[in-house]
Amino acid sequence: MGTGNTALVYHHGRLLALNEGDKPYALKVLEDGDLQTLGLMDYDKRLTHSFTAHPKVDPVTGEMFTFGYQFTAPYVTYHVVTKEGYMLDPVPITISEPVMMHDFAITENYAIFMDLPLYFRPKPMLGRTVLKLFFTLVDYQTLILRWLQGLSEKGWATIEMNCGYEIRFNLNTGEASQKKLSESAVDFPRINEKYIGRKQRFVYATRLDSLAKVEGIVKFDLQLEPEVGKEQIEVGGNVKGIFQFGHGRYGSEAIFVPRESDVGLEEDDGYLICFVHDENTRKSEVNVIDAKTMSSEPVAVVPLPARVPYGFHAFFVTEEQLKYQV
Ligand SMILES: [Fe+2]
Repeated sequence: MGTGNTALVYHHGRLLALNEGDKPYALKVLEDGDLQTLGLMDYDKRLTHSFTAHPKVDPVTGEMFTFGYQFTAPYVTYHVVTKEGYMLDPVPITISEPVMMHDFAITENYAIFMDLPLYFRPKPMLGRTVLKLFFTLVDYQTLILRWLQGLSEKGWATIEMNCGYEIRFNLNTGEASQKKLSESAVDFPRINEKYIGRKQRFVYATRLDSLAKVEGIVKFDLQLEPEVGKEQIEVGGNVKGIFQFGHGRYGSEAIFVPRESDVGLEEDDGYLICFVHDENTRKSEVNVIDAKTMSSEPVAVVPLPARVPYGFHAFFVTEEQLKYQV
């Protein structure tokens, strides 16, 4: 039985609690705010493998794109779930051996998988030397676990990685190139989800301190060039704004929520919502930040009765989505 505690997604009237080692658990948010577990989803027995914690829901077509990775061949299996909740036939993805594959990316026409260097080789991991190497790879892995949604443009598929690199693939020639976007590591990148799989301009990522705690949120503008020669992330170049949580205060990834559901809003017209924990007072709160201005004054602060641990993903469900739950 999986933990279902990595991330959430809403698709076809269901809120799904996800962990990449298991199938999704369907949840229902009750009127009093409590949660009810409806059960494990297997899509009429068509899902026979684990399910990533980071499926992508296309904001235009309503389809959900997902995959699972496993120890036996095929090591990766890709699936499309239609808007109506029907899981189409599996597509095996051929790689040479099993790897940990936490996330993937989609563009309008492509799904992009990472053949990552974190292999599942249990035997060598028992040796001391290789164990060290394994941990080194884990560090590397944490830097490249999370991807932004892809975007496609004139024969190129492009993705931005959370360590601050953009990788471009020329689909005609097979050529790939990378460009550094950020002076230091950032993590948990989020975008306006209406731009999933499309060309997006703004990215909101967490800024990490030396202990990899989240000390603030950075807004990047991908249309601007990064400033070179900086030793740390500062406003200027492609950094449009930084929201710092303050001394002894650490947070989580910030989800973007449009100001209104109406179309026609600018991409960054909305709010960033994140959890913040004050290690001085041991109190936790929700902060709502103006995504357009990145003002240091939060739009709202909501005290929390309990602490939310660092590192969890977050998800926003609209009132309408709650209304149409199965
Ligand atoms: Fe994740």
